[in-house]
Amino acid sequence: MPKPRQFEAAYPNIAADAYVDDSAVVIGDVSIASQASVWPLCAIRGDVNRIRIGARSNIQDGSVLHVSHDSFYQPGGSPLIIGEGVTVGHKVLLHGCEVADNCFIGMGAIILDGAVIEPQTMLGAGALVPQGKRLDGGYLWLGQPARRVRPLSDQELEIMAYNAGHYVKLAKRHRNQA
Ligand SMILES: CC(C)(COP(=O)(O)OP(=O)(O)OC[C@H]1O[C@@H](n2cnc3c(N)ncnc32)[C@H](O)[C@@H]1OP(=O)(O)O)[C@@H](O)C(=O)NCCC(=O)NCCS
Repeated sequence: MPKPRQFEAAYPNIAADAYVDDSAVVIGDVSIASQASVWPLCAIRGDVNRIRIGARSNIQDGSVLHVSHDSFYQPGGSPLIIGEGVTVGHKVLLHGCEVADNCFIGMGAIILDGAVIEPQTMLGAGALVPQGKRLDGGYLWLGQPARRVRPLSDQELEIMAYNAGHYVKLAKRHRNQA
């Protein structure tokens, strides 16, 4: 596990059974809940607002998580809230948004401030979600900007849950190796 880095009074709070790869950087007001995992080369910077990562969620390699500060232009700023059982694919950029439980965020996606991704959304690889946009849950969304494409099948919903469970198990194997 890397040494979590304090920023001013804020210190990361990482559950004892979460997994954070040695090469990830976790700074400031960040909490990582039980059985969540953070993979190589992620940058998670909770300096000017808070970041919450829910239980059993996985943040895959090279993802960047940041927030916006409180200002005249953006009162309260934008925290980053990730629910439970969420899969965040490789090299995703999440900035000051909310990703609800059991979502699947495809590789290379970008989600901007104030966007809300409702539960059980699948966002395709490379998608862009504009500032403040709300994506209905239970659908596949694709493209730049992301558009609603079709409802997810029962099998896809099952696979999304399977993926999150798979990452919980994989994280355990990596922890055992450390
Ligand atoms: C969207 C996705 C789920 C495939 O859904 P699908 O319904 O099976 O789609 P298909 O592969 O049949 O492609 C349908 C069309 O969408 C296009 N398409 C597929 N993925 C796309 C994407 N991410 N963005 C934009 N268009 C995409 C295809 O080119 C195809 O276009 P066409 O009809 O003009 O030929 C998949 O491409 C994807 O993005 N998966 C995410 C994978 C990932 O990030 N995994 C994380 C690693 S753990």
